[in-house]
Amino acid sequence: MVLSIMTEINYTPNNEYAVIKEYASLAPNYDRRWTFYINATLRETLKRLDINPTDKILDIGCGTGSLLQAITEGYPQVKVVGVDLSIEMLRIARNKQIKDSPLIACQARCLPFRSESFDKVVSCNAFHYLRKPEECLAEIARVLKPQGRIVITDWCDDYIACRVCDLFLRVFNRSHFKTYGRRACEYLLRNAGYSNIQVERYKINWLWGLMTAKAQANHD
Ligand SMILES: C[S@@+](CC[C@H](N)C(=O)[O-])C[C@H]1O[C@@H](n2cnc3c(N)ncnc32)[C@H](O)[C@@H]1O
Repeated sequence: MVLSIMTEINYTPNNEYAVIKEYASLAPNYDRRWTFYINATLRETLKRLDINPTDKILDIGCGTGSLLQAITEGYPQVKVVGVDLSIEMLRIARNKQIKDSPLIACQARCLPFRSESFDKVVSCNAFHYLRKPEECLAEIARVLKPQGRIVITDWCDDYIACRVCDLFLRVFNRSHFKTYGRRACEYLLRNAGYSNIQVERYKINWLWGLMTAKAQANHD
């Protein structure tokens, strides 16, 4: 497995540097501390990813690589690539020995890939960190093949617990940016030029709700 580190990451001090700092300290205990949450996210996202054995899949904000690992275990022929801002999270992913998958440190809004390289782009629990979601969605559309699919799972602002948490984190946590509800998510995707947009909301326990958005890239 390759861990390539882009040395010229253009940090935006307010948010992206805060993410890097936060995940440098969270990384060693991330998998243990968030086991239930990671497993729930994986389960719900995999259900909606509609993987084909010939797919090439990019995971944005792949963190410690749990989703990449689950994909390669279930579909050994699928090629996976992970990107994340946090080198420490990628180090944990590298130790999982996920085939020969490239793991690359970069920003979601500036992906170091050729246009039309991936069949699917997936992202779990990372979207609420993105300060410029429109730019990231445009960049994802660029790297998706024509008719390629984006699948995003993240907190859903339509649930009260998430909304309260979002407000709290906006004030007290510099790495957090914003969560979205179903309609806001549909709006973002539509504005970024995606079609066939579907956003499903669901609870993973009595308190916490997520959503998974699926859409198709258009290259007109
Ligand atoms: C809550 S973790 C989720 C990790 C993994 N996807 C999961 O579900 O377990 C969020 C991840 O998003 C990454 N991240 C946040 N902002 C990012 C950005 N702008 N570009 C790339 N990765 C980012 C963080 O470094 C962190 O590893």
